[in-house]
Formats: sequence, structure tokens, C-alpha cells
Amino acid sequence: MSRPFYITTPIYYVNDKPHLGHAYATMCADTFARFHRMIGDRTRFLTGTDEHGQKVEEAAKKRSLTPQQLVDDVAPHFSAMWDALGISNDDFVRTTEGRHKDVVRALWKRIAERNRDDLYLASYSGWYCVACEAFYTESQLEKQGEQWVCTIHHRPVDWIAKERSWFFRLSAYQQRLIDHIEANPDFIRPDAYRKEVLGFLRGEVRDLSVSRTSFRWGIDVPEGDPDGDHHVIYVWMDALVNYLSALGMSGDLYETFWKTGAVHLIGKDILRFHAVYWPCFLMAAELPLPRTILCTGWWTIGGRKISKSIPATRVDPVQLAGDLNSDRALGIDALRYFLLRETPLGNDGDLIYENLIERHNADLANDLGNLFNRSLTMIGKFAPVAPPAFDGAAAGALAEVANGAIAAARAAWEAFQPSRALEATWKLVAEANAFIDRTKPWALAKEGKHAELAQVLGALQASLWTLRLLVAPAMPATARALGRVLGVDASHDDDVRWPEAFGQGMPAMRLQAPSPLFPRIDEKRGVELVNGWLGEAAAPPAPAPAPPTSTTTSTSTPTSTVTIASAPIVFDDFGKIDLRVAQVVTAQAVPKAKKLLHLTVDVGEGRHRTVVAGIAEAYKPEQLVGRKVLLVANLAPATIRGIQSEGMILAAGDDAIVGLGAVDPDVPVGTRVR
Ligand code: MSP
Repeated sequence: MSRPFYITTPIYYVNDKPHLGHAYATMCADTFARFHRMIGDRTRFLTGTDEHGQKVEEAAKKRSLTPQQLVDDVAPHFSAMWDALGISNDDFVRTTEGRHKDVVRALWKRIAERNRDDLYLASYSGWYCVACEAFYTESQLEKQGEQWVCTIHHRPVDWIAKERSWFFRLSAYQQRLIDHIEANPDFIRPDAYRKEVLGFLRGEVRDLSVSRTSFRWGIDVPEGDPDGDHHVIYVWMDALVNYLSALGMSGDLYETFWKTGAVHLIGKDILRFHAVYWPCFLMAAELPLPRTILCTGWWTIGGRKISKSIPATRVDPVQLAGDLNSDRALGIDALRYFLLRETPLGNDGDLIYENLIERHNADLANDLGNLFNRSLTMIGKFAPVAPPAFDGAAAGALAEVANGAIAAARAAWEAFQPSRALEATWKLVAEANAFIDRTKPWALAKEGKHAELAQVLGALQASLWTLRLLVAPAMPATARALGRVLGVDASHDDDVRWPEAFGQGMPAMRLQAPSPLFPRIDEKRGVELVNGWLGEAAAPPAPAPAPPTSTTTSTSTPTSTVTIASAPIVFDDFGKIDLRVAQVVTAQAVPKAKKLLHLTVDVGEGRHRTVVAGIAEAYKPEQLVGRKVLLVANLAPATIRGIQSEGMILAAGDDAIVGLGAVDPDVPVGTRVR
């Protein structure tokens, strides 16, 4: 039965440009929106930008801009990125818009009118993380030396000394919220996050400070300034309201989408705001609650969260995938497929570029791409003698697998499990490929078994048609391209409907000649792509390589008994080695190579080099990022596991590496070591 579906992404802070972590949330929401449109649900998909708060005010100051100038400068980067990535949002809300500010004030007033005691003035002192825009108790922070540090951003928190503020009586809703979560198993998903929130709610829940007086960039508290201080509404109480303000508090959109319950897709760092504060604000305002808080994990790179505050992790999705109009790089759909398939929603995923290429080649180029190519070629060749004739009953195991895939993928999309949905879809890809191998259409043609051949071709054609629909939520551009080669081009994505059963409702098709959908990325191209993604800033070629000189010394224990086994060299020989201080920018495991790490190192003046180092058994990638090392900068480049290595990192030890070359942290990168 169809029912309205309203999905939202978090609204993004505009203190910097979007990165892959943001794109992941938006792509997931886009995929669910597309699926719901396909099953005929009236669908609305909202994204936007979070433009108030201390963080934005500080970012503006740093760039000598007013906050308004900054947000007007940065917000378009987000909408432009979603356009470039073909995101199908129906609305884009900015918290500096009048329609939003009106609803924030209206909500505040509504709470004050209906539950007067829930908003009260009191004094507050405590730790505040500007990056999170959140207050923390010491038990929620980490101590580093003398400083308390936020566990998400790893930066020191600020002590807010006795600020007078408005408070929201969160404690009054604690039990009601527990009851709601227990009665509605779908309210927080996946389940691990539901347990986390229940754990939090079963502890001591403190009231929430919901106004600030120490800065101006926000929405004024409608009560005015009872004690002479100027209060702006706490940025989270402002931002969360976007989900409602974009619909309005009355009218068709509100009735249709708010009343049936929103699905808020969020990242795990903002779970508490969405799963605790937001429903409590709504309860206090006596408004309907969202249907589901859908929580994703984090994408990391070399074990570190992709984050604005760590430049080396700031992966640009358009650089990675290209945009809608470019065919260089990987392709948006290949990136979407990887992100959705690689790790179950809710789990963290480490972005390993080689895996991205591997999945592209295996699942997309080989499995899906080849299935289309082989099938279209055969149908084109044999149709004149055996025009495809579909008979579901005769398709046997293929029909069974196809119907299983249609049902399982649908159930998985409905349950917000993209990796499972795609896994189910690829069962049909595999079965259709196996069907060709089993039925051998070329042999049927040779033997003149035309009736049987026509049915085999018909079943294949139905598989292509089904797959084109099953991949559409995750890979919209691919679905359109497949529609074109099948000659069933839908003029608009909305015309594409989820299939009921294998071959059912299949339209007449005018198959076109195949063209490679996902051209295989060969080793050379793969290395180029990975180097480009790792930020390889066209490093000048290494100077003419000197023949590698053995410099092995045994340094196991610094005692007088250490023997230097190598033959002596003269100073001129040593002088041929260009040793430099370098800093590790990114580090990743090399797939299927236990000992190797793929590093990018900064060699000074913004130049980066790729180095493959055999130190994976001694160091985890995340231990290396930011670390200074010694690099043999003029070692002849060598290709190791398909990656071009341009230098060697010095480490002590042979089989068991016990330490990287020690470098005083103050020595600038690029410094020559003699
Ligand atoms: N402005 C708040 C959200 C307000 S919603 C009412 C905010 N903005 S943010 O720009 O910092 O982050 C937005 C979302 O991006 C969060 O859900 C966050 O989890 C997600 N991601 C940021 N980095 C991410 C990864 N590395 N991986 C996955 N998602 C990540 O928080």
C-alpha cells in the first residue's frame, strides 16, 4: 500500500565545502527517495544547510567576512555539488531563510504556550565544543595533558563560565521518550543505535541549555531579553527545526509529509540531537514525531574520519567520481554503488581506493556490464531467426532467482539496507550470466533449435529489463543508460516503476547495439586514478636515479658490540643519496599484501609523492598519518602491486621493523638530511 515518504539529510554546516562524508549521507537519502518514488509513494526529499551558530561566526571572522557573506558564499557549493552529482532533492532549505526563522520562533512560542515550565532561565557553566556546537560533561570528553578534548573532533573544548541561558526541561520527557522508543522498534535504526540511545536515556538526563548570549549569529529568542542579555536560540534547536520549516506548520505538505512521519537520515555523531532532543522538543510542542531516525556510520580514510578539520581526509566526491557531465574518473554511479554495497548502513567503512576500483571492475564491468554486452550481442545476432519470446514458466531457475531478487531487494530497500538490496540484485546478475553459460544460445542456434533459442533470448531480455529497474534507486544514470539500450527509455525517472514479478508488465523493447557501460579500469589507469585521488600534485620526476646503494646497518641494541656488516663507502657515494624529511599525508593498506602500505608523503612546497612501504606489520595506517619520516627521494621509481612507488622510507629492522627514522618534529618537510 502506498503511503507518503518524507526523507531528509542532515543540513550541513557551511563553514567549509562538502566532502565525501556529506555526499554519502545525501546519496543514501537520494537512493531511498528514488526507491519510494518507484514503488509509487508520494515522496519528498529534503536537504539543506545549517548556517547559524558560533562555528559559522568564527569561520567568517577567520576569513574577514560577515557571517551572512560567508554563508552566501559557501551554501551554493552544496547545492552545486548535489546538482553535479545528480541528486534528486525536492527542496533545499537554508536556516537563514525567512520561512525557516519564522517556524523556529513559532515552535519556541508553541512550547512556551503549551508547556510553560519547559523553558526557563538559569545559569550555566560547562565545557563547549564549537565544532560539535554541543555542551559536554567531563565524562564525555578525553583528557590530553592539561586539556579536555572533544572525542569527535580531537580539539580542546572551551569553558563557558556562568552564562545565563534559557533551558529546556529535557528531563520531563525522559520516560515518555523511553516508552516511545520501546513501543516503536523502527524509531531508531539500525538496532545498535536504538540500544545506545536507550542506554543514554536510562542514565541521568540533564536539562538542555537552549540559548546563548556570547555571540550574535542566530535567531533571537522570541521572549525578548528579560534580564537585559541578548539571547539567540541554541543552534541545534534552530537547525533541527529545518525538517519542519521546509514543509511549513500547516497546509498540504505538512499534512501529507509531517503527519505520516519523517525519516531523518543522519550520521552517528549527531544521533543524540536527533533521537533525544528533537523528539522531546516536538513532544513539548505537541507535534507528531518522526517515523524513523536512520543512523549511518562514518567513512574513514586510513582509519581516520573523513572530516573538514583534517585536510588530508577531505575527499572531494566530484574529484573521485567526476560529475554528471564528465566521463573521466570513476563515474558517479560506480561511487554510489561502492558506498552503498561495501558496508552495511550503520557501520563504519574505510575508503580504500583500490577496493573501489576492484568493485568497479568485478561487479560492474565484469558481472553487470558483461551480462548486458553478451546478451545484447546474442539477441542482436539471433533475433532474426529466433525473435525473443518470453515465457516465465519456461525460464525455470532464472525466473525463480529473478522473483526472489525482486522481493528481497524490495524488502531490503524498505528496511533501509542498501548493501543487502544490492546483494540481492547481484544474485540475479550472477544467475543470468550462469543461465547463458548453461543454455548456450550459440549452440541452440547452430543446432537449429529456434523455438528453444527464442525462449532463452526472451528470458535474458526479461532479466535485462528487470535489472535495469532493480539498479535504478542506487544507480540512476546507469538505469537511464540501460533503458536507452533496451529501447524503453523513460522520459523521466518518475516513470520508472519497481517490477511486480519477473517479466510482468514488460513493455515492447527495441534493443540497441551494446556499448560498454563500465569500461574496465586497467592497472595503469587504476594507478593514475589512485594517485590523482591521493592528491598527487604532479611531482617533478625524481632526479636521474643513482644505482641503489646498500645502506643497511644493524641497530638492534645500541651497544659497543654492534657490528656494521656493510662494506665502507666514501662520502661521495653517500652524497648521491637524496635523503629528505617528509610527512605522511595519507596511508592505506594495499589489498592482498600483508606487509605493504600505500602512502602519500609531503616532500615540501606542496609536492606529494606516492610510496609503497613494507611496514604494514609494524604500523597501522592511522598511526602514520601526520608523522615525519626520512625518505630516499631519488630512488628509481618502481611499480609495486600496480602502484608506482617514488622513493623509500627509512625504517629500522629487517623482518620486524622496530622504528621509523626518528626525526625531530620541528624539522620542516623537504629538509635535506646529510
Ligand atoms: N549541521 C549539523 C547537522 C544538523 S541537522 C539538523 C552537522 N553538520 S555537518 O556538516 O558537520 O555534518 C553533516 C552530516 O555529515 C552528519 O550526519 C555527519 O555524520 C555526516 N558526515 C560527516 N563526515 C562523515 C563521514 N566521514 N562519514 C559519514 N558521514 C559523515 O552535523
